[in-house]
Order: sequence, then structure tokens, then C-alpha cells
Amino acid sequence: TNRTFTMIKPDGVENGHVGAILEKITASGFRIVAMKLTQMTTADAQEFYGVHKERPFFGELVEFMTRGPIVAAILEKENAVADFRTLIGATNPAEAAEGTIRALYAASVGENAVHGSDSDENAAIEGAFHFSGREMF
Ligand code: GTP
Ligand code: MG
Repeated sequence: TNRTFTMIKPDGVENGHVGAILEKITASGFRIVAMKLTQMTTADAQEFYGVHKERPFFGELVEFMTRGPIVAAILEKENAVADFRTLIGATNPAEAAEGTIRALYAASVGENAVHGSDSDENAAIEGAFHFSGREMF
């Protein structure tokens, strides 16, 4: 069993998809270890997405991720990182497999409804970025 970190991004919250997305996540066998509604500051988003700081879309990404609340969560399941990325689908919803969260709920590559960690190492870093030990169960 291992863990991944996710965020329902501002578009997913704004569009009223929190309940449906969480239902899909739990129905797919993920246990919620930690969860909260929170809003990232500009500094938070710049740090969280620091690996993308040289990319042309970085400013847009930070602007988007800070424009409203997100649902942050740590999830546990066997093979959590890879299985969660399968569940959310490709970064660009136009390329996301049918039935995936991004195919169902994302509008564009920029506003793609959910985040999923890309490695066990990043899952641990990202989870610790948002949650203290006392908030993990
Ligand atoms: P995350 O789970 O959010 O990390 O997405 P990902 O791992 O599928 O994609 P990646 O880490 O490569 O990119 C991070 C995020 O940057 C994406 O989820 C998008 O929100 C955003 N992004 C990526 N490419 C583009 C782009 O071409 N334009 C814009 N506006 N945003 C992009
Ligand atoms: Mg990524």
C-alpha cells in the first residue's frame, strides 16, 4: 500500500464537481488519509509547481491555481501513484481516456480539474506541503 497526493483544482471546485470526483476516487479503492478545502497563495503555487517555472505557461498556471479554493487530499491504495494517474487521465482532457476524471470534468489542458503526483517521492513532498502529521489519518 502506498500514497499519492491530489488536488481538485479551482475549476473543479467552481464547477461543482467536488462530490462527483470524490465519489469516483473512493469508488476506485482509494482511502482518504487527509483532506481539506484550502486556497494556495501565489508563493505556494510558485513553489508547488516550481519544476515548471521555465515553461511558457507557468504564469498562467500560477494564476489559475490561486484563483479560488482547491480540495487537497492524500490518498492511499496499492500502487497509488500510477493507479491514480490512470484514473485522472491525460493532462490534456481531449486526449484523456473515456471515463477518466479529466475526460468527464476537465475543460482544457490549462484547466484540467485534478492534480495527481507523478512519483512516490513527489507524493510525499506534496502531501507534506499541504498537511501536518496531525492532519493525516
Ligand atoms: P498535474 O497533475 O497537475 O501535475 O498534471 P500533469 O502531471 O498531468 O501535467 P504536468 O505536470 O506536465 O503539468 C502541470 C500542470 O500544468 C497541468 O496539469 C496543467 O494544469 C498545466 N499545464 C501543462 N501544460 C500546459 C499548457 O500547455 N498550457 C497551460 N495553460 N497549462 C499547462
Ligand atoms: Mg505533474
